Amino acid sequence: MQSTAMPTADQHGFRPHSDGSVVPVQTRSERFRSTDVSEFAPITGREHEWKYSPVAAFADLTSGELDGSRVAVEQTSADGVATTWIPRDDARIGRAGTPEDRASAAAWSAFDEALLVEVAGEEAKTVTITRPAVGVAPRGAHTVIEAAPNSRGMVVLRGTGDARLTENVEIVVGEGANLTVVSLQEWSDESVHLASHFARIGRDAKLKHIVVSLGGKVVRVNPSTHLAEQGGDIEAYGMYFSDAGQHLEQQVFVHHDAPHTRSRVTYKGALQGEGARSVWIGDVLIGNAATGTDSYEQNRNLVLTDGTRADSVPNLEIETGDIEELATPRRRAASTTSSCSTSRPAASRRTRPDGSSSTASSRRSSSRSATPNSRGASRWRSKQNSRGADVASTRVFGVDDLAVNEARKVVLDGVPIAVVKDAAGEIFAIGDTCTHGDISLSEGFVEDDTLECWAHGSKFSLTTGKPLTLPAYEPVPVYAIEIVDGGVFIDPAVTIAV
Ligand code: FES
Repeated sequence: MQSTAMPTADQHGFRPHSDGSVVPVQTRSERFRSTDVSEFAPITGREHEWKYSPVAAFADLTSGELDGSRVAVEQTSADGVATTWIPRDDARIGRAGTPEDRASAAAWSAFDEALLVEVAGEEAKTVTITRPAVGVAPRGAHTVIEAAPNSRGMVVLRGTGDARLTENVEIVVGEGANLTVVSLQEWSDESVHLASHFARIGRDAKLKHIVVSLGGKVVRVNPSTHLAEQGGDIEAYGMYFSDAGQHLEQQVFVHHDAPHTRSRVTYKGALQGEGARSVWIGDVLIGNAATGTDSYEQNRNLVLTDGTRADSVPNLEIETGDIEELATPRRRAASTTSSCSTSRPAASRRTRPDGSSSTASSRRSSSRSATPNSRGASRWRSKQNSRGADVASTRVFGVDDLAVNEARKVVLDGVPIAVVKDAAGEIFAIGDTCTHGDISLSEGFVEDDTLECWAHGSKFSLTTGKPLTLPAYEPVPVYAIEIVDGGVFIDPAVTIAV
């Protein structure tokens, strides 16, 4: 139960800015982690992980005293499933993850005992654990769900009635196991529930994780999955229905950290009524060891009335070398040494209050052993860059994958590039890092032929890279792009301005 390092301003989600202020840490993997709430700075609402949340509505859960005693549960029984309470210093606690935010650390610091749910045996079975009486006093809780090697089962965690609860749920899936965990939020109208789920998936094991949020004033369930061993598989599903005045949030993180791992993330929601709000953030990190990764994430929102807002932010970071893209069902393969990441800005993902829906999705696959096939080979060419490394003109995605007035970040040969489609459907590529501070321009706003930095408002020309408004005064590079067979190709070594 320790932090990953001594905390600094950078670890708390901020790093120094050129004008003396601070700007948020951009990458998920850079976040500070600790089980000790005192190592997290008080929440201001400007932090990357909190900027979409109504933080004042649950300050008592992140800064106040929490009751860490046992939360009463009612449960069904099944052969092969055992539940017990274990002390906080039990070695079975802390294997699946470490808190990345203050609410999670507050719960971890507060709980007296953890509820341990053990699943064993190859027969399929289901247990439902209901918490009907959490109450209105602020509480912190901890649950560990462990599936033994080669076991099969489903565990349903159901919340009803009143609650002011922050909690952590650890899910440990042993080798070859097949586990389903359902988190069902049916709280009363004034309830507040903040949850962090940490899953560790073993070799050739599979977790199906399902979040259903229906009741509660503020519900934030953040599942984080570590595909730690070869052949691990996660299917993460979410369903939410946000009514007037309701805030339903989910920040989903999948870390591919071993060869031949697979993730599928699909969250769908509907909103109706004044002030109905949903937030979905989907982070996928494909680590250096994660060759042969297959990853897909998607969020869809259906808006039924005016006055609602849905924020949907997918982010993809790829550290492994070779990228194989599955933008369409027809496989396109390539062998290249570039790394790639994409993200979409929150602002452009706001759902339109006209009954229409918004969709955000990204799909990538990487394979160190991939070789160009007959279709893909012609789409890639290699040459030497200024550092003598072998680089490629890379197909970053299909022309139609990018929406009008959307900016997406890609990282090619270590160069962050914002790829933008303007209102006329024309595509541009400019340097992604604002010259005023370390801010990703692709998280800003596309307006006419400019991309505006969200931090302080400098607008950069998509054709020249020059800032048209202060405070930035230095240009960003503009990259040449090629459109080939419906694909957008960029070579980070070829600029047409700056
Ligand atoms: S960081 Fe200040 S304008 Fe971009």
